[in-house]
Order: sequence, then structure tokens, then C-alpha cells
Amino acid sequence: MQAGWHIVVLDNLCNSESSTIQRLGAMGHGVPEFVQGDVRDAALLDKVFASHPITAVMHFAGLKAVGESWQQAARYLDNNVGGTACLAAAMERAGVRRLVFSSSATVYGQPDAVPIAESAPLRTTNPYGRSKLLCEDMLCELRAADSRWQVALLRYFNPVGAHASGLIGEKPSGIPNNLMPYITQVASGQHPFLRVFGDDYPTVDGTGVRDYIHVVDLAKGHLAALRYLEQEGKGITVNLGTGRGVSVLQLVAAFTRATGVPIPYQILPRRPGDVASCYAATDLAWDALGWCAQLPIEAMCADAWRWERTSQAAGNVHD
Ligand code: WQD
Repeated sequence: MQAGWHIVVLDNLCNSESSTIQRLGAMGHGVPEFVQGDVRDAALLDKVFASHPITAVMHFAGLKAVGESWQQAARYLDNNVGGTACLAAAMERAGVRRLVFSSSATVYGQPDAVPIAESAPLRTTNPYGRSKLLCEDMLCELRAADSRWQVALLRYFNPVGAHASGLIGEKPSGIPNNLMPYITQVASGQHPFLRVFGDDYPTVDGTGVRDYIHVVDLAKGHLAALRYLEQEGKGITVNLGTGRGVSVLQLVAAFTRATGVPIPYQILPRRPGDVASCYAATDLAWDALGWCAQLPIEAMCADAWRWERTSQAAGNVHD
């Protein structure tokens, strides 16, 4: 919206809240149209395309908890893969063939080497990652079958943080699986300490290394990808990361530096399925999209902490 786009949001609210729409309106760029519904509802999709002059789609509607995907593999395949197939068919019926797709670095599995380039082998290690790879394969098939399709597959590394206004941010339901929201909940007293899953990895300090990217940089990467599709008229598969690896303990130290809040922690055994080190090669994003992440780790921490406090204060905490 800030970039001048008029948008329609379709969301089934299975992991979000409609109050976000009103808070988006408070950011000064208008209020997006909101349709509550499911990406698997073909009739609803046809209705949305028929009633709005849609020229492009950004598809974020996916379940994304690795651990949960082991218990709910069929649900993940139905929602993530079935939903993407349903959306692509509706787009085809509407003659809209420009799509930016939210993929994930989990399609690389356990990497042979870091930084990870887009040409690295693809091998998933959980149903969530597999669902993302199946979506990529489907959309590549569309691109190959009909050159009118322009698809950008964006492989997110570890998105964290929140908008600096404190108006919008992530709100995981239940106890967060991911590191940053767990840290902010320790900082706000919801947990006595951070559980550090393993300190015996072959990394700088033994803890897991990841490529944390500010969610605002991630959003700008989507706009750059959309511009690329418009200007180049062809698709692309590209990493969205900073190219810098940060360990768990380095993130904890950065959080305290940025906020002044200490984060007590205890070392626990490794979490099954975790890889030691994962961070992006960012050359293609710069060469093709002219995009690179700008915001430092301290901004990610400060913005995540501000959002934790404002969403707590507003009582908007996901119960
Ligand atoms: C990061 C590091 C943990 C929690 C996730 C998922 C998926 C994907 C993004 C989209 C690891 C350690 C974590 C905690 C810890 N989303 N950790 N204590 O596992 O890299 O991947 O990223 O695709 O959500 O694949 O992210 O934040 O769970 O873990 O020590 O309480 O922090 O061991 O080293 P991950 P994460």
C-alpha cells in the first residue's frame, strides 16, 4: 500500500486476526479491502477476481510450523499444495498470471555448504518443507507450459521483527516454535528463560546459526520481485536473506544490546531436525532484483520488542 498498490486481502484467519486490517488502516496508507475466506474456496476466488481489477497476486496463505507439519501432514498438503493449485486455477480462469509465491529456505534441507545459492540441491526434511517444494514444482510446471505465466518463487530464510510503528507484527498462537518470538516472550516475563537447543554444533559458539531477515526488508523484496515480473516478463526463483549467519547466543546478545533487557537461558539438547548452519547467498537477489536487506540485527530485535510490548498492552495477545 505504501508503494501505491491497491490491495485486497483474502485470509481465513486460522492464524491471524481481523483487527490487523483496522491497524493497517492506522498506518496512513488507506485500508485494504478484506475478504474472510479460504484459498481453497474456488467459488469465492472466482467472485473476488470478478469483483476487483486484480493484476497480480502475492500468495502467503500457508501453514508454516515445521514441528506441527509432522503431526498434520495431510492438513499441510491440503492447505499448502491444494490451496496453491486452487489459486492457480482461479487465476487462470480470470486471466491473471502474475504471481509472487512465499516459499522457504526449508526446501534446501540440510545444506552441503553455506551460504546457500538458489542452485543448491533441493531436499526437504519435513512435510512443511516438502509442501513448499511441491508448490514450487507446480508453479514451475505452469511457467513451462504457458509462457504467459510470470511467477516469482521467494525463498525466505528466517523472517523476524515487526513494523517499526508497533501496529503490526507476528502473533504466533500458543507457545512459539521460533526463536525470536520466544525471546520477546522471555523479555516480557511470559517464560523464565530461553531454552537453547544445543550448543555442540560446529558453529562459532556451538549454537545454531541462521539468516535472520527483518520482515520489512522481506516486504520490500516482494515489491522488487513484482517489479521484476512486470519489467522482465519472466519468472525467477530467488533467496530472500541477508547473507549473514547469526547464532542463537549472538541473537540473544544483540537483543540485550538493542533493548537493555537481559535474556536468561539454559542449554538443552539439540532439537530434532535442526540443521547447524543455514544462511543465504544473496548475489542473485541483488543482480536480478536490485534488492538487498538493509536493516541490522539490532533493528530486528528493537522492532520485535516494541511489537511485543504494544500487542501485550493492547491485549491483542493470541490466546
Ligand atoms: C532458529 C534457531 C533453533 C527456538 C524456521 C522454520 C520455519 C521457517 C523459518 C518459513 C535454531 C534455535 C529456536 C527456541 C532455540 N518459516 N532455537 N530455542 O528452525 O531455522 O526454521 O524458520 O519458512 O518456521 O523452518 O527457525 O526460529 O525455530 O530456530 O534454541 O526456543 O534457534 O535450534 O538453531 P528455524 P527457529
